Amino acid sequence: MIIGVLNQKGGVGKTTLSLNLAAAYATSGYRVLLVDADPQGSSLRWSSARAEDVKPLFPVVGMAKPSIRRELPELAKDYDVVVIDGAPRVTDLGRAAIMASDVILMPVQPSPFDIWATEDTVQLIREAQQFKPSLKAAFAINRKIANTAIGRDVVDAFTEAAFPVLDSQVCQRVVYAESAVQGLSVVEAAPTSEAAREIKALAESVIKFNKPERKAA
Ligand SMILES: Nc1ncnc2c1ncn2[C@@H]1O[C@H](COP(=O)(O)OP(=O)(O)O)[C@@H](O)[C@H]1O
Ligand SMILES: [Mg+2]
Repeated sequence: MIIGVLNQKGGVGKTTLSLNLAAAYATSGYRVLLVDADPQGSSLRWSSARAEDVKPLFPVVGMAKPSIRRELPELAKDYDVVVIDGAPRVTDLGRAAIMASDVILMPVQPSPFDIWATEDTVQLIREAQQFKPSLKAAFAINRKIANTAIGRDVVDAFTEAAFPVLDSQVCQRVVYAESAVQGLSVVEAAPTSEAAREIKALAESVIKFNKPERKAA
């Protein structure tokens, strides 16, 4: 399964969700590869921040080039799950990452502005679905304030959204940044935390949404 974490908007949590999802899958026994497809290289920076003596859970490779579409399928054969940390902006790079994916996960903050701002990415996905009808896409709510309900206007905006919204929501929590500075994921830095629980739930939701064959134990 190749999961493209994409959204043309910067700062929505593409990198945060990508590396934490990758870690959740790796700790469940899947063979995981994290592909950094953003020229900014945040996932690569994250992996190099990891202490020398802390074993990596999965390899991180940089592939911020349009040839990702041709090159990734070959590389992906050796893994159960490949997560693409996508680039912001709608470019050839974004298009190539979409075409390389089986399922697109679009992180969005629970605000109508964030939902509306996905329009160009949604359009790209729709175009890609013409060539690749099996391509699936869903929104994942990120940075929800814990113990608050999502407002009616936001719910309405999501109801009208182009793709389904996954049930599992990720809240705003300091542990995401605190673990990232050490090159760690929340499932490693705080395995019993609410953050780890919500990331594992999101990882399960993506699997259910895509319904792939379960290869690893
Ligand atoms: N659920 C969250 N809780 C707290 N901070 C978050 C969360 N998700 C993302 N952030 C923070 O928001 C900023 C942008 O996130 P990032 O993953 O880099 O977004 P993107 O890759 O889409 O640009 C980072 O500082 C990150 O630590
Ligand atoms: Mg990023």
